[in-house]
Amino acid sequence: MTPLSLQQYLAREETLRGLDPQLARVISGISEACKTISSLVRQGALAGVLGLAGSENVQGEEQKKLDIISNDIFVEALVQTGAVCGMVSEEVDHVISVPETEALGPYLVAFDPLDGSSNIDINVSIGSIFGILPADRPKRVAVEADFFKPGRNLKAAGYCMYGPQTQLVLTLGQGVVMFTLDPLTGTFRLTREAVRVEREAKEFAINMSNERFWEKPVQRYIGELLQGKDGVRGKNFNMRWIAAMVAEVHRILQRGGIFMYPRDSRTPDRPGKLRLLYEANPMAMIMENAGGAATNGHERILDITPEKIHERVAVFLGAAEEVERVTAYHLDK
Ligand code: F6P
Ligand code: MN
Repeated sequence: MTPLSLQQYLAREETLRGLDPQLARVISGISEACKTISSLVRQGALAGVLGLAGSENVQGEEQKKLDIISNDIFVEALVQTGAVCGMVSEEVDHVISVPETEALGPYLVAFDPLDGSSNIDINVSIGSIFGILPADRPKRVAVEADFFKPGRNLKAAGYCMYGPQTQLVLTLGQGVVMFTLDPLTGTFRLTREAVRVEREAKEFAINMSNERFWEKPVQRYIGELLQGKDGVRGKNFNMRWIAAMVAEVHRILQRGGIFMYPRDSRTPDRPGKLRLLYEANPMAMIMENAGGAATNGHERILDITPEKIHERVAVFLGAAEEVERVTAYHLDK
């Protein structure tokens, strides 16, 4: 039997679980944006989309052409749904409102249109990440404060990974499902349901080159993992680093592990590298819905009240036992 398409899945959720049709429209709009981005990623140099755009985003990072193109594709697709009233994108410094000429809806969307920028030009996995919040009330001009709600308020979150296959991973707050894009028909089809992350892990992901800049609890935790069988953990751990959060999270959802991006003494006024609204929160919601955990070392990521739309945060996510352990090391400093 052919697996359910994303549209059929959303229709089923509307019937069985009362999924709001407007929320379904937002998710469907995002999936269309992801298909278009996937096709450009696959064409690469042939579509003339590789290389630098010659500009910087608000965080002072060089923008690639595909970062900007993907951002525009997301904004356009979301506006077309008529179901959103504000957007925050990694690539745009201010909140994006819906133009006067277009319909307004009840949802706010925060997204990273293309995560893992350093992988774009080398043909390694990248992805798009999104989180969908309910607005208090739809209004023409969205403001930053509209987004200052802890991630536990998200109605849906997900990501699309452009790897050997294009896969869309989604949570509506009741588990995690995965769709694979059929490149022949352009349809996302449900290929995994009830995705679970084991509590225990034997694999970790962290940029080890930053070790000397980490805080003590992180140095202790990683030091113990590196000692393997000979140390207090009494077992060996393997390491992976793809340098795209989407790909690390995707691996962890398939075969377990922990992903970390801790704070760094080189930038003491910055609590981490990853952004709360459109990187940490959506991935934290996915992890928790798969039975995993996500903290900033001190508290649950989904409990943090944002104060800035591009706020950064330290991230420890994945296997619950490992996240609990590294969090405990921070707390008993
Ligand atoms: O968006 C930030 C990001 O690209 C993540 O996707 C990734 O996990 C991380 O940065 C890679 O960081 P580094 O450059 O330290 O390897
Ligand atoms: Mn990113």
